Amino acid sequence: MGALKGRDLLSMADLTVDELHELLQLAAQLKSGKIQLKRQKILGLLFYKASTRTRVSFTSAMYRLGGQVQDLNPSVTQVSRGEPIADTARVLDRYLDILAIRTFDQRDLETFANYAEIPVINALSDLEHPCQVLADLQTVQESFNTLAGVTLTYIGDGSNNMAHSLLLGCALAGMNIRIASPVDYQPLESIVQKAKAIAHDRVEITVTPDPIAGVKSTQVVYTDVWASMGQENLAESRIPIFQPYQVNEALMAYADKAAIVLHCLPAHRGEEITDAVMEGSQSRVWDQAENRMHVQQALIASLLGAE
Ligand code: CP
Ligand code: NVA
Repeated sequence: MGALKGRDLLSMADLTVDELHELLQLAAQLKSGKIQLKRQKILGLLFYKASTRTRVSFTSAMYRLGGQVQDLNPSVTQVSRGEPIADTARVLDRYLDILAIRTFDQRDLETFANYAEIPVINALSDLEHPCQVLADLQTVQESFNTLAGVTLTYIGDGSNNMAHSLLLGCALAGMNIRIASPVDYQPLESIVQKAKAIAHDRVEITVTPDPIAGVKSTQVVYTDVWASMGQENLAESRIPIFQPYQVNEALMAYADKAAIVLHCLPAHRGEEITDAVMEGSQSRVWDQAENRMHVQQALIASLLGAE
């Protein structure tokens, strides 16, 4: 259970294939069972962006393990007045056992991880959202009883955190991944190359501007908002660019008949996904949201080396 003891999770690529499978196995056990940390531990949440699921699921996960949570609102701490991250990290390290951070710049996470001995978890950055992808993979596993060989299509903003972590996560899981997004919104080439290096030709990794080709016969249709947190001023201008990538019933007709629909949430109904698809029989979004709690419980237990 303590396979990740003392480590950080800043990127999906921080896990090996075996570690990913062990975490998902533990999450599945935790969904129907219970473990307690041997010693009282404290999780800190330092969130520079809004959050419902991540904040509450991490809190509930820690409580279920018998631990405690400190919600460190940046606006009432000295970080909002410019105290350097390197200093903040060394101080928080003395008070907490584990720290989850939601921030803009991935480099802030790396600085925290460099200066704090305790495990640091990426609870979303502009670059990646690994905790969400762990829950997504648990949901795919529950739906298809396997991950290997399943094809997932992410449709929408291919340049955002979800697209990047899904590329890496699917490559680790042995799943084929297609990213269907407008030409100016495709994933970072460095992430695509990293995913290909992880996959070793075991899986197909495709980036296409064609939404229909992307969705054709796929088994998992995944979407996310067209403008992420911090990009609110671009939301209006992006609508016409992304409209052809809306997950609606017409697009779903091209997917496999047994395909499931995932969305990390929060969703903008009528933009990236229609109400009918979100509420339809193929949607697994509520199970997906629930799995955040189980998989993060497994992650905390593993990073803390709980026996
Ligand atoms: N999916 C997700 O991370 O949701 P929150 O922004 O509500 O945490
Ligand atoms: N891409 C979205 C994900 C929210 C969970 C964002 O960063 O706002």
